[in-house]
Amino acid sequence: MEISTTVDKPKNIAPDVALNAVLIPSQDLPKETPTVSGYDWENGTDYNKILESYLRTGFQATSFGKAVEEVNKMLKCRSVPLTDETSDPYEEDLFIKKKTNCTIFLGYTSNMISSGLRDTIRFLVKNKLVDCIVATAGGVEEDFIKCLAPTYIGDFNLSGKSLRTRGINRIGNLLVPNENYCKFEEWVTPLLDEMVTEQIKDGVLWTPSKVIARLGERINDESSVCYWAWKNNIPIFSPALTDGSLGDMMYFHSFKKPGLIIDILSDLRRLNTMAVKANNTGMIILGGGVVKHHICNANLMRNGADFSVYINTASEFDGSDAGARPDEAVSWGKIRPQATPVKLYAEATLVFPLLVGQTFAKYYFSNKKNV
Ligand SMILES: NC(=O)c1ccc[n+]([C@@H]2O[C@H](COP(=O)([O-])OP(=O)(O)OC[C@H]3O[C@@H](n4cnc5c(N)ncnc54)[C@H](O)[C@@H]3O)[C@@H](O)[C@H]2O)c1
Repeated sequence: MEISTTVDKPKNIAPDVALNAVLIPSQDLPKETPTVSGYDWENGTDYNKILESYLRTGFQATSFGKAVEEVNKMLKCRSVPLTDETSDPYEEDLFIKKKTNCTIFLGYTSNMISSGLRDTIRFLVKNKLVDCIVATAGGVEEDFIKCLAPTYIGDFNLSGKSLRTRGINRIGNLLVPNENYCKFEEWVTPLLDEMVTEQIKDGVLWTPSKVIARLGERINDESSVCYWAWKNNIPIFSPALTDGSLGDMMYFHSFKKPGLIIDILSDLRRLNTMAVKANNTGMIILGGGVVKHHICNANLMRNGADFSVYINTASEFDGSDAGARPDEAVSWGKIRPQATPVKLYAEATLVFPLLVGQTFAKYYFSNKKNV
């Protein structure tokens, strides 16, 4: 006969099995484990303190705080002066010549330049705070187009059918009139003519980065990222340069004055050479796709980046490169195993200006004051 062991227990005591399951004794966490806390509003509206509180707030706020720490590590490493041993005196290509102790690669998708993030990116490029850029075609041409005509704030819900009849294009909640692209064509076509002529007469081998530098020089406009990149010898790589309006212009131009050759392999050598020769590298990648992979792959050539920050909205469940977390890049040798990379799951227009404010801007303005 089976004997019940619970019959004699008073009814108001919880079952042992449940008590033991729920209240498993805790082991102590390491002493240095941070505790969760948020911003104390009794301090008033102190945006710096609000952003500092993110590190211990949890979720993506903590990732933001870690991204601040990671970028600050890049900047600390960058501030170590180059020596005779660590510099690269024999490199003749000024765009890829080593300039600092930590070569910072900045990547961004096209829409970042369509948005007001262009102005944050320009701050970095104008003040030589990054060394190398990888962007997609829209991220190049829209920088020039904005010098010719403005992009407008619209709405995500505007009807495509109605916009099409009005000759207005939508990028998320931004609007770009067709007229802007007509102005771009007028500006860029004579420059394409020039490039074909130089190729035929002088044997110039054009690459996407050389095309972008030429256009950057010719736009001669201080509001442009590409202008400052040209002026400061910062290369902008764009292996898929034809996948945008610039490609449309090149297509039409190819009927008018055929023969322009744009060599992507020479650019790959320039980009990879920058990674191979760097003393240390940092990657800051906004968005995914070509820009993310191209920078990570260049860093494979040096057995991985030392510092990395990804900011994007993509997830890894679909196996996409866009969504891959930094740990996947470690498995490929694109990020060093001992590194402390950060992925911030966020929409870049919301967080990148704040990240720059807590890192590059503080670094730049404090160095400026000390000069
Ligand atoms: N303005 C434009 O967006 C524009 C203009 C002309 C041509 N194009 C072309 O479209 C093609 C695809 O564009 P792409 O490769 O630049 O990237 P994309 O717009 O396809 O984005 C790639 C991934 O980056 C992430 N991402 C994009 N925007 C983000 C944001 N604001 N915040 C966080 N994460 C974000 C998302 O995970 C997205 O899936 C390119 O060849 C480009 O030249 C785009």
